Amino acid sequence: MTIETPPTTQHFLTLLDLDPDEAERLLARASELKQLRQRGEDYRPLVGYSLAMVFEKSSTRTRVSFEAGMAQLGGSAIFLSPRDTQLGRGEPIEDSARVLSRMVDGVMIRTFEHETLTRFAAYSQVPVINGLTDRFHPCQLLADMQTYREHRGTIRGRRVAFIGDGNNMCHSYINAARVFGFELHIACPQGFEPDAEILAAAPEQCRLTHDPAAAVAQADLVVTDVWASMGQESEEDERKARFAAFSVTPALMARARPDALFMHCLPAHRGEEVSAEVIDGPQSVVWDEAENRLHAQKALLERLLVRPSRSGSGR
Ligand code: CP
Ligand code: NVA
Repeated sequence: MTIETPPTTQHFLTLLDLDPDEAERLLARASELKQLRQRGEDYRPLVGYSLAMVFEKSSTRTRVSFEAGMAQLGGSAIFLSPRDTQLGRGEPIEDSARVLSRMVDGVMIRTFEHETLTRFAAYSQVPVINGLTDRFHPCQLLADMQTYREHRGTIRGRRVAFIGDGNNMCHSYINAARVFGFELHIACPQGFEPDAEILAAAPEQCRLTHDPAAAVAQADLVVTDVWASMGQESEEDERKARFAAFSVTPALMARARPDALFMHCLPAHRGEEVSAEVIDGPQSVVWDEAENRLHAQKALLERLLVRPSRSGSGR
Protein backbone atom coordinates (compact mmCIF):
# COMPACT_ATOMS: atom_id res chain seq x y z
CA MET A 1 0.00 0.00 0.00
CA THR A 2 1.29 3.47 -0.87
CA ILE A 3 1.05 5.78 2.09
CA GLU A 4 0.62 9.28 0.75
CA THR A 5 0.52 11.18 4.01
CA PRO A 6 3.49 13.55 4.12
CA PRO A 7 5.71 12.54 7.05
CA THR A 8 4.99 15.83 8.84
CA THR A 9 1.20 15.50 8.80
CA GLN A 10 -0.04 15.00 12.33
CA HIS A 11 -3.37 13.28 12.86
CA PHE A 12 -5.54 12.88 15.96
CA LEU A 13 -6.99 9.39 15.60
CA THR A 14 -6.71 8.32 19.24
CA LEU A 15 -5.51 10.00 22.43
CA LEU A 16 -2.26 8.07 22.08
CA ASP A 17 -1.34 10.48 19.27
CA LEU A 18 -0.50 12.93 22.08
CA ASP A 19 2.30 12.34 24.54
CA PRO A 20 1.49 13.21 28.16
CA ASP A 21 3.21 16.62 28.05
CA GLU A 22 1.51 17.62 24.80
CA ALA A 23 -1.82 16.45 26.21
CA GLU A 24 -1.44 18.55 29.38
CA ARG A 25 -0.39 21.59 27.32
CA LEU A 26 -3.42 21.15 25.09
CA LEU A 27 -5.77 21.18 28.09
CA ALA A 28 -4.12 24.29 29.49
CA ARG A 29 -4.44 25.97 26.08
CA ALA A 30 -8.10 24.95 25.88
CA SER A 31 -8.78 26.76 29.16
CA GLU A 32 -6.87 29.82 27.87
CA LEU A 33 -8.94 29.90 24.69
CA LYS A 34 -12.07 29.60 26.84
CA GLN A 35 -10.99 32.65 28.85
CA LEU A 36 -10.22 34.62 25.68
CA ARG A 37 -13.75 33.92 24.46
CA GLN A 38 -15.26 34.80 27.84
CA ARG A 39 -13.44 38.13 27.71
CA GLY A 40 -14.82 38.71 24.20
CA GLU A 41 -11.36 38.86 22.63
CA ASP A 42 -10.97 37.85 19.00
CA TYR A 43 -8.29 35.29 18.17
CA ARG A 44 -8.31 34.34 14.51
CA PRO A 45 -5.26 32.28 13.53
CA LEU A 46 -7.27 30.25 10.99
CA VAL A 47 -8.38 32.98 8.58
CA GLY A 48 -8.56 31.34 5.14
CA TYR A 49 -8.44 27.81 6.59
CA SER A 50 -11.21 25.26 6.11
CA LEU A 51 -12.14 22.00 7.80
CA ALA A 52 -14.16 19.29 6.04
CA MET A 53 -16.44 17.42 8.45
CA VAL A 54 -17.56 13.98 7.31
CA PHE A 55 -20.48 12.66 9.37
CA GLU A 56 -21.63 9.10 8.71
CA LYS A 57 -23.49 9.15 12.06
CA SER A 58 -25.67 11.74 13.80
CA SER A 59 -24.19 14.48 15.94
CA THR A 60 -25.17 17.60 17.83
CA ARG A 61 -22.16 18.48 20.00
CA THR A 62 -19.36 17.36 17.68
CA ARG A 63 -20.79 19.09 14.64
CA VAL A 64 -21.63 22.36 16.37
CA SER A 65 -18.40 22.55 18.37
CA PHE A 66 -16.18 22.01 15.32
CA GLU A 67 -18.24 24.33 13.13
CA ALA A 68 -18.45 27.11 15.74
CA GLY A 69 -14.81 26.54 16.72
CA MET A 70 -13.58 26.99 13.15
CA ALA A 71 -15.70 30.13 12.76
CA GLN A 72 -14.38 31.60 16.04
CA LEU A 73 -10.79 30.95 14.94
CA GLY A 74 -11.47 32.79 11.67
CA GLY A 75 -11.88 29.75 9.40
CA SER A 76 -14.80 27.80 8.04
CA ALA A 77 -16.19 24.27 8.19
CA ILE A 78 -17.91 22.22 5.50
CA PHE A 79 -20.47 19.64 6.61
CA LEU A 80 -20.47 16.49 4.46
CA SER A 81 -22.90 13.60 4.89
CA PRO A 82 -22.98 10.38 2.87
CA ARG A 83 -26.57 11.23 1.87
CA ASP A 84 -25.47 14.00 -0.42
CA THR A 85 -21.83 13.29 -1.30
CA GLN A 86 -20.21 10.61 -3.46
CA LEU A 87 -18.95 8.97 -0.24
CA GLY A 88 -22.46 7.58 0.17
CA ARG A 89 -22.43 6.24 -3.40
CA GLY A 90 -19.36 4.12 -2.94
CA GLU A 91 -16.44 6.38 -3.95
CA PRO A 92 -13.40 4.70 -2.37
CA ILE A 93 -12.30 6.23 0.92
CA GLU A 94 -8.71 6.49 -0.37
CA ASP A 95 -9.89 8.57 -3.37
CA SER A 96 -12.06 10.78 -1.18
CA ALA A 97 -9.08 11.35 1.13
CA ARG A 98 -6.80 12.37 -1.74
CA VAL A 99 -9.37 14.74 -3.20
CA LEU A 100 -10.63 16.39 0.00
CA SER A 101 -7.16 16.85 1.42
CA ARG A 102 -6.05 18.80 -1.66
CA MET A 103 -8.85 21.30 -1.01
CA VAL A 104 -9.06 21.81 2.75
CA ASP A 105 -6.64 22.20 5.65
CA GLY A 106 -8.03 19.49 7.89
CA VAL A 107 -10.66 16.76 7.93
CA MET A 108 -12.80 15.61 10.83
CA ILE A 109 -14.50 12.24 10.43
CA ARG A 110 -17.27 10.52 12.40
CA THR A 111 -17.78 6.99 11.11
CA PHE A 112 -18.46 3.37 12.08
CA GLU A 113 -15.34 1.26 11.48
CA HIS A 114 -12.16 2.72 12.98
CA GLU A 115 -10.35 1.32 9.95
CA THR A 116 -12.26 3.71 7.66
CA LEU A 117 -10.66 6.55 9.59
CA THR A 118 -7.14 5.09 9.52
CA ARG A 119 -7.43 4.37 5.77
CA PHE A 120 -8.55 7.94 5.16
CA ALA A 121 -5.67 9.27 7.25
CA ALA A 122 -3.14 7.15 5.38
CA TYR A 123 -4.07 8.93 2.14
CA SER A 124 -4.67 12.43 3.51
CA GLN A 125 -2.19 15.26 2.99
CA VAL A 126 -3.77 17.21 5.85
CA PRO A 127 -4.46 16.39 9.53
CA VAL A 128 -7.36 14.02 10.17
CA ILE A 129 -9.32 14.20 13.43
CA ASN A 130 -11.39 11.36 14.89
CA GLY A 131 -14.87 12.74 15.61
CA LEU A 132 -15.93 9.26 16.90
CA THR A 133 -15.66 5.75 15.57
CA ASP A 134 -17.11 2.52 16.94
CA ARG A 135 -13.78 2.09 18.72
CA PHE A 136 -12.74 5.51 20.10
CA HIS A 137 -14.00 9.02 20.88
CA PRO A 138 -10.81 10.95 21.73
CA CYS A 139 -12.19 14.50 21.26
CA GLN A 140 -14.70 13.81 24.04
CA LEU A 141 -11.86 12.82 26.36
CA LEU A 142 -10.07 16.12 25.77
CA ALA A 143 -13.21 17.90 26.95
CA ASP A 144 -13.67 15.53 29.91
CA MET A 145 -10.06 15.96 31.02
CA GLN A 146 -10.27 19.75 30.65
CA THR A 147 -13.44 19.73 32.74
CA TYR A 148 -11.92 17.66 35.53
CA ARG A 149 -8.85 19.90 35.55
CA GLU A 150 -10.95 23.07 35.77
CA HIS A 151 -13.06 21.74 38.65
CA ARG A 152 -10.54 19.73 40.66
CA GLY A 153 -6.99 20.27 39.33
CA THR A 154 -4.85 17.52 37.91
CA ILE A 155 -6.40 14.09 37.40
CA ARG A 156 -3.00 12.40 37.73
CA GLY A 157 -3.18 9.78 40.50
CA ARG A 158 -6.97 10.16 40.90
CA ARG A 159 -9.47 7.33 40.76
CA VAL A 160 -12.03 7.23 37.93
CA ALA A 161 -14.96 4.80 37.58
CA PHE A 162 -16.45 4.01 34.17
CA ILE A 163 -19.81 2.26 34.56
CA GLY A 164 -21.58 0.57 31.65
CA ASP A 165 -20.69 -0.61 28.18
CA GLY A 166 -17.09 -1.40 27.17
CA ASN A 167 -17.60 0.85 24.16
CA ASN A 168 -15.80 3.66 22.31
CA MET A 169 -15.99 5.95 25.37
CA CYS A 170 -14.68 3.22 27.63
CA HIS A 171 -11.79 2.56 25.24
CA SER A 172 -10.92 6.25 25.14
CA TYR A 173 -11.02 6.34 28.97
CA ILE A 174 -8.53 3.46 28.99
CA ASN A 175 -6.24 5.46 26.69
CA ALA A 176 -6.77 8.56 28.83
CA ALA A 177 -5.71 6.64 31.94
CA ARG A 178 -2.40 5.95 30.19
CA VAL A 179 -1.89 9.49 28.87
CA PHE A 180 -3.10 11.43 31.94
CA GLY A 181 -1.95 8.94 34.59
CA PHE A 182 -5.11 8.08 36.54
CA GLU A 183 -6.48 4.82 37.94
CA LEU A 184 -9.50 3.55 35.97
CA HIS A 185 -12.01 1.07 37.43
CA ILE A 186 -14.39 -0.23 34.76
CA ALA A 187 -17.63 -2.03 35.64
CA CYS A 188 -19.55 -3.69 32.78
CA PRO A 189 -22.01 -6.55 32.51
CA GLN A 190 -20.61 -9.96 31.48
CA GLY A 191 -20.17 -10.01 27.72
CA PHE A 192 -19.90 -6.21 27.36
CA GLU A 193 -16.28 -5.79 28.41
CA PRO A 194 -13.91 -3.44 26.56
CA ASP A 195 -11.62 -4.82 23.85
CA ALA A 196 -9.08 -7.12 25.50
CA GLU A 197 -6.12 -5.71 23.54
CA ILE A 198 -6.90 -2.08 24.42
CA LEU A 199 -7.31 -3.04 28.09
CA ALA A 200 -4.18 -5.18 28.12
CA ALA A 201 -2.12 -2.18 27.02
CA ALA A 202 -2.94 -0.41 30.31
CA PRO A 203 -2.31 -3.07 32.96
CA GLU A 204 -0.95 -0.59 35.50
CA GLN A 205 -3.82 1.85 35.24
CA CYS A 206 -6.98 -0.22 34.66
CA ARG A 207 -9.07 -2.72 36.62
CA LEU A 208 -12.13 -4.50 35.24
CA THR A 209 -15.02 -5.72 37.39
CA HIS A 210 -18.66 -6.70 36.94
CA ASP A 211 -19.63 -4.98 40.18
CA PRO A 212 -20.49 -1.26 39.83
CA ALA A 213 -20.33 -0.72 43.61
CA ALA A 214 -16.74 -1.98 43.71
CA ALA A 215 -15.77 0.22 40.75
CA VAL A 216 -17.13 3.46 42.23
CA ALA A 217 -15.71 2.95 45.73
CA GLN A 218 -13.60 6.04 46.58
CA ALA A 219 -13.86 7.34 42.99
CA ASP A 220 -13.04 11.00 42.30
CA LEU A 221 -14.94 10.89 39.00
CA VAL A 222 -17.84 8.68 37.93
CA VAL A 223 -18.52 8.36 34.19
CA THR A 224 -21.14 6.55 32.20
CA ASP A 225 -22.42 6.44 28.62
CA VAL A 226 -25.41 5.10 26.72
CA TRP A 227 -26.12 1.36 26.85
CA ALA A 228 -26.75 1.15 23.09
CA SER A 229 -24.42 3.23 20.93
CA MET A 230 -25.13 4.53 17.45
CA GLY A 231 -25.45 1.51 15.16
CA GLN A 232 -26.74 -0.75 18.00
CA GLU A 233 -30.35 0.45 17.94
CA SER A 234 -31.68 -3.08 17.28
CA GLU A 235 -30.06 -4.29 20.54
CA GLU A 236 -31.69 -1.63 22.70
CA ASP A 237 -34.23 -3.84 24.46
CA GLU A 238 -31.81 -6.65 25.16
CA ARG A 239 -29.22 -4.20 26.44
CA LYS A 240 -31.72 -2.49 28.77
CA ALA A 241 -32.24 -5.84 30.48
CA ARG A 242 -28.54 -6.73 30.63
CA PHE A 243 -27.45 -3.31 31.92
CA ALA A 244 -30.23 -2.73 34.48
CA ALA A 245 -27.85 -3.08 37.45
CA PHE A 246 -25.38 -0.59 35.90
CA SER A 247 -27.41 2.58 36.31
CA VAL A 248 -25.64 5.48 38.02
CA THR A 249 -28.13 6.23 40.78
CA PRO A 250 -27.79 8.44 43.88
CA ALA A 251 -27.13 5.24 45.89
CA LEU A 252 -24.22 4.33 43.60
CA MET A 253 -22.83 7.89 43.66
CA ALA A 254 -22.95 7.77 47.48
CA ARG A 255 -20.23 5.10 47.39
CA ALA A 256 -17.83 7.43 45.56
CA ARG A 257 -15.90 10.17 47.36
CA PRO A 258 -18.21 12.92 48.66
CA ASP A 259 -16.65 15.44 46.26
CA ALA A 260 -16.76 13.09 43.24
CA LEU A 261 -17.82 14.57 39.92
CA PHE A 262 -20.23 12.93 37.48
CA MET A 263 -19.69 13.06 33.69
CA HIS A 264 -21.57 11.77 30.65
CA CYS A 265 -20.63 12.61 27.06
CA LEU A 266 -24.34 13.05 26.16
CA PRO A 267 -26.88 12.43 24.76
CA ALA A 268 -28.16 10.80 27.98
CA HIS A 269 -31.14 8.62 28.81
CA ARG A 270 -32.46 9.58 32.24
CA GLY A 271 -33.78 6.53 34.06
CA GLU A 272 -31.47 4.20 32.12
CA GLU A 273 -27.70 4.62 32.45
CA VAL A 274 -28.14 7.57 34.84
CA SER A 275 -30.85 8.82 37.20
CA ALA A 276 -32.23 12.30 36.69
CA GLU A 277 -31.18 13.11 40.30
CA VAL A 278 -27.55 12.40 39.39
CA ILE A 279 -27.25 14.04 35.97
CA ASP A 280 -29.26 17.08 37.09
CA GLY A 281 -27.72 17.09 40.57
CA PRO A 282 -24.87 19.05 42.20
CA GLN A 283 -22.08 16.57 41.38
CA SER A 284 -22.84 16.60 37.66
CA VAL A 285 -20.63 18.73 35.40
CA VAL A 286 -22.14 17.57 32.11
CA TRP A 287 -22.91 21.07 30.78
CA ASP A 288 -19.35 22.28 31.38
CA GLU A 289 -18.17 19.03 29.80
CA ALA A 290 -20.32 19.65 26.70
CA GLU A 291 -19.16 23.29 26.45
CA ASN A 292 -15.55 22.23 26.73
CA ARG A 293 -15.87 20.27 23.48
CA LEU A 294 -15.69 23.70 21.84
CA HIS A 295 -12.63 24.95 23.72
CA ALA A 296 -10.66 21.69 23.68
CA GLN A 297 -11.20 21.23 19.95
CA LYS A 298 -10.20 24.83 19.25
CA ALA A 299 -6.91 24.07 21.01
CA LEU A 300 -6.61 20.91 18.91
CA LEU A 301 -7.38 22.74 15.65
CA GLU A 302 -4.84 25.44 16.50
CA ARG A 303 -2.23 22.79 17.21
CA LEU A 304 -2.84 20.64 14.13
CA LEU A 305 -3.81 23.16 11.46
CA VAL A 306 -1.86 26.38 11.98
CA ARG A 307 1.17 26.55 9.71
CA PRO A 308 3.66 29.39 10.21
CA SER A 309 3.73 30.13 6.47
CA ARG A 310 -0.03 30.77 6.50
CA SER A 311 -0.70 32.80 9.61
CA GLY A 312 -4.10 34.48 9.92
CA SER A 313 -4.80 37.87 11.46
CA GLY A 314 -3.27 36.80 14.82
CA ARG A 315 -4.34 37.90 18.26
N1 CP B 1 -20.87 13.64 22.89
C1 CP B 1 -21.00 13.70 21.56
O1 CP B 1 -20.09 13.36 20.79
O2 CP B 1 -22.18 14.23 21.15
P1 CP B 1 -22.75 14.26 19.66
O3 CP B 1 -23.06 12.83 19.27
O4 CP B 1 -23.99 15.11 19.77
O5 CP B 1 -21.73 14.86 18.75
N1 NVA C 1 -21.06 5.60 22.77
C1 NVA C 1 -21.87 6.60 22.13
C2 NVA C 1 -21.24 7.95 22.25
C3 NVA C 1 -22.06 9.07 21.64
C4 NVA C 1 -21.38 10.40 21.71
C5 NVA C 1 -22.08 6.22 20.67
O1 NVA C 1 -21.13 5.80 20.02
O2 NVA C 1 -23.21 6.36 20.18
